[in-house]
Amino acid sequence: MDNFAFYSPTYFAFGHGAEAQAGSLVRRFGGSRVLIHYGGGSAVRSGLIDRVKSSLEASGIPYTLLGGVKPNPRSGLVYEGIDLCRRERVDFVLAVGGGSAIDSAKAITAGAVYDGDFWDFYSGKPIENALPVGTILTIAAAGSEGSPDSVITLEDGMLKRGATGDAIRPRFSILNPALTQTLPPYQTACGITDIMAHLYERYLTNTPDVEVTDRLIEALLLTMIHEGPRVMADPDNYQARSNIMWAGMMAHNNSCGVGRTQDWNSHNIEHELSAKYDCAHGAGLAVTLPAVFTYVMEHDVMRFAQVAVRVWGCQMDFAHPEVTARAGIEALRAFLISLGMPRNLADLGADPADIPELVRVLCRGNGRNGAISGFVTLTEEDCANIYRLMV
Ligand code: NZQ
Ligand code: ZN
Repeated sequence: MDNFAFYSPTYFAFGHGAEAQAGSLVRRFGGSRVLIHYGGGSAVRSGLIDRVKSSLEASGIPYTLLGGVKPNPRSGLVYEGIDLCRRERVDFVLAVGGGSAIDSAKAITAGAVYDGDFWDFYSGKPIENALPVGTILTIAAAGSEGSPDSVITLEDGMLKRGATGDAIRPRFSILNPALTQTLPPYQTACGITDIMAHLYERYLTNTPDVEVTDRLIEALLLTMIHEGPRVMADPDNYQARSNIMWAGMMAHNNSCGVGRTQDWNSHNIEHELSAKYDCAHGAGLAVTLPAVFTYVMEHDVMRFAQVAVRVWGCQMDFAHPEVTARAGIEALRAFLISLGMPRNLADLGADPADIPELVRVLCRGNGRNGAISGFVTLTEEDCANIYRLMV
């Protein structure tokens, strides 16, 4: 195991009705003028925004509203939010929604206290200062409720990039699994896929002797394999929703990624798909993960065989471990398809003729130097081969 620092100070309020604590939690974490930032309307239709407003009013906290965050959140609304925060002297941003509303809120909090262009942070500058941000999560997926990360798409060029910094870790996150019961099945499945991807991105490591984090990841993957079909069959199953919601947080607050190198090539490859075709991030990952794993499997066949045996229940073929490794990848692919996830680029609305452009933006965009690195280093040719495996 490598040396590491682990800092994860988010306060979590979990369970039925937890959103009623919004006002008192904003107060507790120093907010006195709030921007409520939310998505395309699901939180309005469910009555959640009204309950959040009531909670803030009960705590005597004035607020202003900015809705309209799109999935794969865009830079334009971030600039608008930054202006609004300055104009209204907002000192706390409360995101209500999924990864998109939360990531947009995080970008606003960093930009509101910065003299330059907030996009600097999405071009590699670490985020050191930000207004405090809190979240009320409505979809278990991105893990942004417990992460120091934010992913935004620059409208000029549709470049999707991430920024990071402890300053944008949520001060608190409210997790009420019942709020996820209104999700369309497709979005529930996208969330399950993203959570599993966050686990795999950490599982693919070059660090030896990481038994504790390997076992944590395997436990969370097994949980998703158990609860995923249960929630797809019965969307109102509060207990299944609860397990998935907490697994989604644990998959991405890095408690199971410490002390080991991680991959993230699949995420980088997928981000080009959701940037260009505006598909759901989880849907893009369902197509990306099996292709990447098939391509890089030879780098460490025993690691892929291990997850195949321990998580997918495959029989170990000691004479031919690559057979076991491949069986595990196929089990993942079949599981994601069983949830209703897409199989290939065509299902995502992507055109194979775009592959050269996808590769160029992936490997050259925003100062990259012709390759991406993680579990293995992937050149432009490798990335093109991987996209071709998705056809
Ligand atoms: O906008 P509304 O109307 O709320 O609809 C949303 C949206 O259409 C809907 N939805 C959310 N909660 C709902 C609901 N509909 C009905 N009932 C509810 N309770 O679901 C759709 C997807 O929402 P979104 O926030 O986009 O989903 P998700 O949480 O998957 O976030 C995706 C974004 O997060 C980024 C992705 O790249 C993508 O841009 N990621 C962020 C990460 C991070 N900050 O740490 C890590 C991830 O790997 C990921 O890259
Ligand atoms: Zn993800």
